[in-house]
Amino acid sequence: MSAHLPWRQGRGGSAGSLPDPRVPEAWESPTGETAPWDTWRTHRALQQPTYPDPHALSEVTADLRRRPPLVFAGEVDDLRADLGAAGRGEAFVLMGGDCAETFAESTADHLRLKIQTLLQMAVVLTYGASLPVVKIGRIAGQYAKPRSADVETRDGVTLPVYRGDAVNSFAFTKESRIPDPHRLMEMYQHSASSLNLIRAFTKGGYADLRLVHHWNRGFTQNPAYSRYESLAEEIHRAVKFMEAAGADFDSLREVDLYSAHEALLLEYESAMTRIDSRTGRPYDTSGHLLWIGERTRQLDGAHVELLSRVLNPIGVKLGPTTTPEDVIALIDRLNPEGEPGRLTFITRMGASRIRQALPRLLEAAKADGRPVTWTTDPMHGNTITSSTGYKTRDFATIMDEVSGFFEAHAEVGTIPGGIHIELTGDDVTEVMGGSEQIDEAGLERRYETLVDPRLNHQQSLEMAFQVAGLLR
Ligand code: TRP
Ligand code: MN
Repeated sequence: MSAHLPWRQGRGGSAGSLPDPRVPEAWESPTGETAPWDTWRTHRALQQPTYPDPHALSEVTADLRRRPPLVFAGEVDDLRADLGAAGRGEAFVLMGGDCAETFAESTADHLRLKIQTLLQMAVVLTYGASLPVVKIGRIAGQYAKPRSADVETRDGVTLPVYRGDAVNSFAFTKESRIPDPHRLMEMYQHSASSLNLIRAFTKGGYADLRLVHHWNRGFTQNPAYSRYESLAEEIHRAVKFMEAAGADFDSLREVDLYSAHEALLLEYESAMTRIDSRTGRPYDTSGHLLWIGERTRQLDGAHVELLSRVLNPIGVKLGPTTTPEDVIALIDRLNPEGEPGRLTFITRMGASRIRQALPRLLEAAKADGRPVTWTTDPMHGNTITSSTGYKTRDFATIMDEVSGFFEAHAEVGTIPGGIHIELTGDDVTEVMGGSEQIDEAGLERRYETLVDPRLNHQQSLEMAFQVAGLLR
């Protein structure tokens, strides 16, 4: 697999012994005490559903604890190494997917289009950056959402708010808004079948660089996107050159696509935490990378506590009010030893604030010296409501935040390590702008998100071409 990645050289199992699959094991305490990572239970946990039947919840989590892990310790370690490389400027991170996945849309078609979009972006970015791209999907686990209010009122009726399919159902009825712990098991099952599909697509020929490049040519041959044609043509010549020279490696046919989600529901995340058979250390096996949201990143909160105990790479969202002291305190809590790739900050400042707000955070981390991988989320600080009442974002504003991110890093002398975006592979109309010029009236054509507006397939590719321009 990715043997071409320079920081991976010399890795692999020791010669002569059978490879250890490193299937993490469930925690079994001989004396019935709690697991070492259960310390979160004595910390304040925000954004948790209140289940009417606690007994049903403990039955589900007991069942989850016996299920096979969804991801493996060795894969998680590989991603940590890749993120460390991105922090040093030796790779670039592309993290993307839905704001919230739904069970109904975890179908083969939707997943295929999303994976296709991520891979198409990755080819363009790999060329633009002349670096390996670390591909991470907000996929196979992104089923829970933090919300700003506990309840929602429509026409005088007040009900509990929708917290994602992992918790309750979107339909505005009393019944469907009751948090149901069995949905945690459904989350596990949808994650498992999605990961199965991802593994098949990424290792089975569908991710072949030449095929993905061929899709990109189709995109740039559309007159609407002709401004990207010259870059696509350069990539085409590079691919042709490789072919002519007879270059044909496994690494052209396969990719590593990692899975990430917001680690919001602590009962689920702690039930999925297992002990690695090789090192004896805990891994949260619900996904490769877990992130902590801006609303739940309190230093003494339960989310930081749980994730401080597992070895996965951790992301933390940072909004415009983050202080340099917060940054250092988060490093102290989540990466005290300064391990490369352990901690990724995902900044979501807003296009109008990033140039003021980000540099001092970069300065603080730079002075501290422990490595951090910096990525930009140009989506969440730029959400507006259209005059027609849709929650939307503007493509040009999103790109402005990305530019601000690169400028801030250039100013401080730190590394812009990657981007984190909300996208779908479908032809939705949720974000305004782009070459197809979706305007306020156009939003209603195909507005499908239950939560935040996503870049559609074309807008995602445009973003990749524009970011590739910034990376060159
Ligand atoms: N394996 C390499 C990588 O992941 C090259 C590659 C193969 C690739 N298929 C791809 C890159 C699809 C991007 C998209 O980088
Ligand atoms: Mn979102």
